[in-house]
Formats: sequence, C-alpha cells, structure tokens
Amino acid sequence: MKNNLWAVILAGGKGTRFGALKQREKLKGKPVLEYSLSAFESHPEVEGIVLVVVKELFPWAEELKIRYMKIKKIVEGGRTRQESSRAGVFALEGEGIVLIHDAARPNISKSLIDRVIQGAKKWGAAVPVLPVADTLARVESGFVRGFISRKGVFRVQTPQGFKISLIKEAHNRTEGGNFPDDSSLFIASGMGEVRAVAGEKTNLKITLPGDLRFLEGII
Ligand code: CTP
Ligand code: MG
Repeated sequence: MKNNLWAVILAGGKGTRFGALKQREKLKGKPVLEYSLSAFESHPEVEGIVLVVVKELFPWAEELKIRYMKIKKIVEGGRTRQESSRAGVFALEGEGIVLIHDAARPNISKSLIDRVIQGAKKWGAAVPVLPVADTLARVESGFVRGFISRKGVFRVQTPQGFKISLIKEAHNRTEGGNFPDDSSLFIASGMGEVRAVAGEKTNLKITLPGDLRFLEGII
C-alpha cells in the first residue's frame, strides 16, 4: 500500500425527511449513491472505499461491489450519522488519510477531493466550507425577531478529510454523541484544529425531494 488513502461513504441513513432511501433514488437515471462511488473510484489517490449502508441495501451494495472495484468493505450503518461514521472509520487499518463523505451529496468534483486531501495531509483535518451569502434572521412564530451576523459564518460540506488515527481517537472521545458531521465531533473531542478549504456551490445535499429535482437541473 502506497498511500493508505480511503473514502468512507455514508449511506446508512433512512431518508426520513425525503420519504424514501434517497441514496437509491435516480438522479438523471443513475442512483444517487453511484455518483459518489464514481467520484472516488476514478480518483487516482483513493485506494479503497468503505461503504456504510442500511441493512436493507446490503444486496444492492454487494452488486455495486462488482462494478466498483475499489469497494473493499461493506459495513452496516448505526442509528445516528455519528455511529455510521464510526463504523466506517473503524473498518480501516493502519495510518493514512480517510475522506468521510455523505452519499446524499452526489455532485462532487475531483478538485474538491484534491483540496480536502491536501488539507488533511498537511493539517490532520480538513473540511470544505462555503461563505453564507444571505442575511441570517431569527424567526419565531412567523415573525422576524432579530438578525445574526454572517461575518465568519460558513456552511460545512463533505467530503471531510482526517488522519485516520486522529479521527479514530476523536470518535472514541465523543462516542454516544449525535454530532451532525465529523468536523464538529473532531473539534468537540479536542483532537486539534480543522483546516477550512474551499467548498463548492454545486455540492448540494439532498434532504427533500425538491433538492433532487433542483440537482437534476444543474448536473
Ligand atoms: N447517514 C448514515 N447513518 C445514519 C444517518 C445518516 O450513514 N444513521 C448518512 C446518510 O445516508 C446521508 C448522510 O449521512 O448520506 C447525511 O444524513 P441525512 O442527510 O440526514 O440523511 P438521512 O439520515 O438518511 O435523512 P433523514 O435525517 O431525513 O432521515
Ligand atoms: Mg439524518
């Protein structure tokens, strides 16, 4: 093994808000999960993929393993995203870099992956971020009650890159928590700083059915 650089793709969610297993929904004729699989499969630095899925998608995951040669392990997801991320990360051995990615973000570019890899190699932890352009208001009972400064406020995306030993220890220190992503549990664990690299406007997350239709328009 030259690099020991791995991708952990999280497809262990139930899609409660979407109303279906969105990782399997078709986006321009191709299942959402296959977009991330293609991106990491075709990336020259990625050696292997750990696919984290809900149990009912195991038969499909086994089929995908035949077509995506880099899938080395299929792991069952947990009750929370954090548990699923933990399961994926602890399927890895040795020292190296892991890119943890939400299958719900199908539209990632090679240059985005490159920036995260570079940041993780240099700083130990790196995540893509985007500045917030809209005014941020606090709304209560249908009325605007106040405003939040957007100075220094960024949206955080995936893939998120970490040195494998550091993210494993961060998971051990925060086990049982319910952090929304790996950068937040990493910071909370006190394992160190997270480097911010440039995210992409088109790297949208599918949460609701409308998001899928919107992505269809920009892909
Ligand atoms: N995820 C996971 N395991 C979980 C929860 C989420 O692997 N227990 C994954 C999802 O499959 C998704 C990503 O984490 O790729 C982001 O989660 P989210 O968008 O919240 O997806 P779901 O949890 O499936 O949706 P919902 O919260 O509406 O149920
Ligand atoms: Mg969720």
